[in-house]
Amino acid sequence: MLKPAEPTPVTHLPECPRPREELLTALRSLSGGDADWRRGRVFSLVYDAGDAHLALLKQAHALYFCENGLNPMAFQSLKRMEAEVVRMAANLLHGGPDAVGTMTSGGTESLLMAVKAARDRARKHKPWIRRPELVMPDSAHVGFDKAAHYFGVKIRRACLGPDFRVDVRSMKRLINRNTVLLVGSAPQYPHGVVDAIEEIGALGLAKGIPVHVDACVGGFLLPFVEQLGRPVPRWDFRVPGVTSISADLHKYGYAAKGASVILYRSMDYLKHQFFVATDWPGGIYASPSMPGTRPGGPIAAAWAGLQALGVDGYRALTQSALHSADRLREGIARIDGLALLGLPHCTIVTWGAAAKSHGGAVDVYAVADQMEQRGWHVDRQQRPACVHLTVMAQHAAVVDDYLGDLAESVRVVRAHPELRSKGNAAMYGMMAKVPLRFMVGSAVRQVLEGMYAPGGGAPDLKKPPVGGVVGALLERHGEKVQRALDLVDDARRQVKDTVGRYL
Ligand SMILES: Cc1ncc(COP(=O)(O)O)c(C=O)c1O
Repeated sequence: MLKPAEPTPVTHLPECPRPREELLTALRSLSGGDADWRRGRVFSLVYDAGDAHLALLKQAHALYFCENGLNPMAFQSLKRMEAEVVRMAANLLHGGPDAVGTMTSGGTESLLMAVKAARDRARKHKPWIRRPELVMPDSAHVGFDKAAHYFGVKIRRACLGPDFRVDVRSMKRLINRNTVLLVGSAPQYPHGVVDAIEEIGALGLAKGIPVHVDACVGGFLLPFVEQLGRPVPRWDFRVPGVTSISADLHKYGYAAKGASVILYRSMDYLKHQFFVATDWPGGIYASPSMPGTRPGGPIAAAWAGLQALGVDGYRALTQSALHSADRLREGIARIDGLALLGLPHCTIVTWGAAAKSHGGAVDVYAVADQMEQRGWHVDRQQRPACVHLTVMAQHAAVVDDYLGDLAESVRVVRAHPELRSKGNAAMYGMMAKVPLRFMVGSAVRQVLEGMYAPGGGAPDLKKPPVGGVVGALLERHGEKVQRALDLVDDARRQVKDTVGRYL
């Protein structure tokens, strides 16, 4: 929770300038209640390659703090750096001499651009398509949903197999004459598995449909996992049929935030990403991606960061992250009541409840609450309930503490089964299982509206956001409502799996 750094909230521009030192002190104190990433207590959001690397990123960023990539004639240095970052990434991912791309502000923008380019390419090559569709694994990043929402593309979701990789037969069944793009992930975020990209690529080739691989997580990780001799399913431009790849510099590229690349096999695809307007009184306007103004800092920092680490640096960081992920997996597998989900393709570790255990079923969200009380920032997931850890180099020092706290949390939850109908556990349990998803959607929208209302701040997670009938029932009959929701959820999953198998 946010600690009040300022005695009163700031609402108006101060009449007189405030002293710079006072402002910097206030900023430092504002961050006092944030997630503690410096001590490795966060398993997402911040990728840290050590103090020396961070200092270089800050210096490079500061050198280009004011420059604007909007106009490459004015700031040719930025255009050159962007081209070199794109080339380094394309070569790493075996893009071949024709591979091209742009930098973007992050993974979501890269996905937006991949979808927009595929839609616009289809407009040219398949003009009969009125309602474009994309087919993707159920596990593909939610950024595709955003892209589909923004660009008027319908999503068809293919079901996952028992190892959480997409069932490619299910993808095949969902393709129709409106399909403009197929998607696979390397790896997907929720369980860290790499989809069967070779099969998806073959499908794309056979049907004449572009294939995007979302390697926002894996782009600067999997090449080094492979170099370290671990088995990684082929997923990059070596796979025939793969036409575009997104790879985030600000994740395992250990760059400053605001940096990703979207790569295409050739200009035949990239040209559909561009935007050109010729009649604006302000002049002829051409833009390669979403933003207008493009901050120079993230471009310069990525350019410097990639070269400062080099292949040796990335390999060492990857080895350290893999080692920590292995130790976490071994430790979690030994805790009765917990199970690992997915395949160990890389450094994402996901744990949930074991189907069978000596001491009975463990409620994942109640364990998550216990972990939070012990100072860990926890990423809860749903369908099935599980917890996600993106393990990075900075986690080597905390593996033992995490495992100790996890074992203790499971013990506490076992001893107090009522915890599952209390606090965040009750809320997440309910949000994951309420069958009428629109109710959850509208509850979450209300939370957003609250956060962005005048005077709004961080959400109060102590209050369950789902109000109305379900909220009231939960408050009064917590345990019974949980059990009813469990039954409904099981039935819903069974119906979905059965329908998915036959569709
Ligand atoms: C697989 C994958 N794709 C895309 C994204 C979106 O990246 P960003 O948060 O940088 O927009 C993420 C973020 O976690 C991700 O895991």
